[in-house]
Amino acid sequence: MTLTAMLLAAGKGTRMKSERAKVLAEAAGSPLVLWMYEAAVRAGAESIVAVVGYQADEVAAVLPGDVITVEQTELLGTGHAAAVGLKAIDTRPGDTLLVLPGDMPLIRGETLRRLVDHHEATSAAATVLSVEVDDPTGYGRIVRSNGSVAAIVEHRDASRAELEITEINTSVYAFAATELGSALDGLGNHNDQGEFYLTDVVGQFAAGGNRVEAVLADAEEGAGVNSHAQLAGVAAQLRARINQFWMDQGVWLEDPATTYIDAGVTLEADAMVYAGTHLRGATHVAAGAQVGPEVHATDTTIGPGARVWYSVVRGAEIGAAAEVGPYVSLRPGTTLEEGSKAGTFVEIKNSVVGPGSKVPHLAYVGDTEIGVGANVGAGTIVANYDGYEKHRTKIGDGVKIGSNNVLVAPVALGDEAWTGAGSIITRDVAPGALAVSRSAQSEIPGYAARRRARAERESR
Ligand code: UD1
Ligand code: CA
Repeated sequence: MTLTAMLLAAGKGTRMKSERAKVLAEAAGSPLVLWMYEAAVRAGAESIVAVVGYQADEVAAVLPGDVITVEQTELLGTGHAAAVGLKAIDTRPGDTLLVLPGDMPLIRGETLRRLVDHHEATSAAATVLSVEVDDPTGYGRIVRSNGSVAAIVEHRDASRAELEITEINTSVYAFAATELGSALDGLGNHNDQGEFYLTDVVGQFAAGGNRVEAVLADAEEGAGVNSHAQLAGVAAQLRARINQFWMDQGVWLEDPATTYIDAGVTLEADAMVYAGTHLRGATHVAAGAQVGPEVHATDTTIGPGARVWYSVVRGAEIGAAAEVGPYVSLRPGTTLEEGSKAGTFVEIKNSVVGPGSKVPHLAYVGDTEIGVGANVGAGTIVANYDGYEKHRTKIGDGVKIGSNNVLVAPVALGDEAWTGAGSIITRDVAPGALAVSRSAQSEIPGYAARRRARAERESR
């Protein structure tokens, strides 16, 4: 007995009014279809097949490599999609097939497991995951007769009495895999949309005397995404779950309501996250780090005891006890080593700032390697781009760069070198030397009085 999961993800999602496939829409940093994949894995699915169609390549690309993708070239309905997917699966009697829509990201792995367990324990041909909702508009209704499931009727095909039913089909099912195959062969498309409905299989089973079961889930978990408003709603729920998870792990969140942590982010106990913070992608925050308020961090590692506030950091590595902000932009390829600092209004790209080195104010540092304990003066710019190519700059240990310098790359400053304020450094500086490159100051005595006299003469 093996459990295979099938994700139905070929539809466009017309009601989203978007060119992008609905299952690619993101909630808490992950596409909807990936949330479905993860729930299936947590339910214990040994293999996962995804039926793709609209934007097939893009959908396949966001799924892990172990997913078997099958293309449904004509979107003829959920029943047709299931038949296409089933062709890629080697089914044996006794195997269970878990079918999932691509757009129900609040579904929990445990709930899917409960569905499968019930299905297998009752030896049903089909078990539907249903929910009770206040407003069943648009959903397929679970029609019961003497308590057991007799059919699923789509909203647009429902009678007045059936429209009153508030138990609806989530589009999640467990099927006896081999029985499903033969049932799909007999499916027709005589309905309002002229589609092959997977839901009709349920009625067929019941009519043929095969056992059909329903397992009721929490309404929250059954929430599908058909509109942008529903997408925002499920995203808020997922975010609340993620925040709760990290607080349970010992992470301090100043204000969960304004904290956005993507599914792929990891934090250590005693990490501190202040209000208005977005942690995106594969960001990691170590113990004792303080992040926020108002930080946007993507694919960035923030080391133990580091402090980052009011800043945007992407693809960076921030070492232990380093300080970043306020108003810093760290771009990909930046490493701030232990105890270093990127201060107010500083941009750093593809550079290493060595241990204890500081870039405290108003600077741009790009394609640069800074050694240990160096200081980059306020207003310094690394001119790394000559209009055609980027070049590298090397700043040695203990270097002191004066205020308002331009370091024209490629250029190297030896250990313990100094530069004078306002210098434009175009050539390498020897270790321990002072480089000054600016015109000497000159002075014209009595200038103010002479200038005033001239102005008075001219106004007469
Ligand atoms: C479906 C169910 C309905 C249920 C509802 C829950 C049917 C006929 N109806 O309706 O009973 O209450 O879900 O949200 O199944 N898909 C394909 N290929 C297709 C058509 C659809 O892969 O040819 C995929 C879609 O990408 C989607 C899923 O199947 O992930 C469900 O399709 P959708 O069009 O959203 O079905 P509903 O009309 O919502
Ligand atoms: Ca749907």
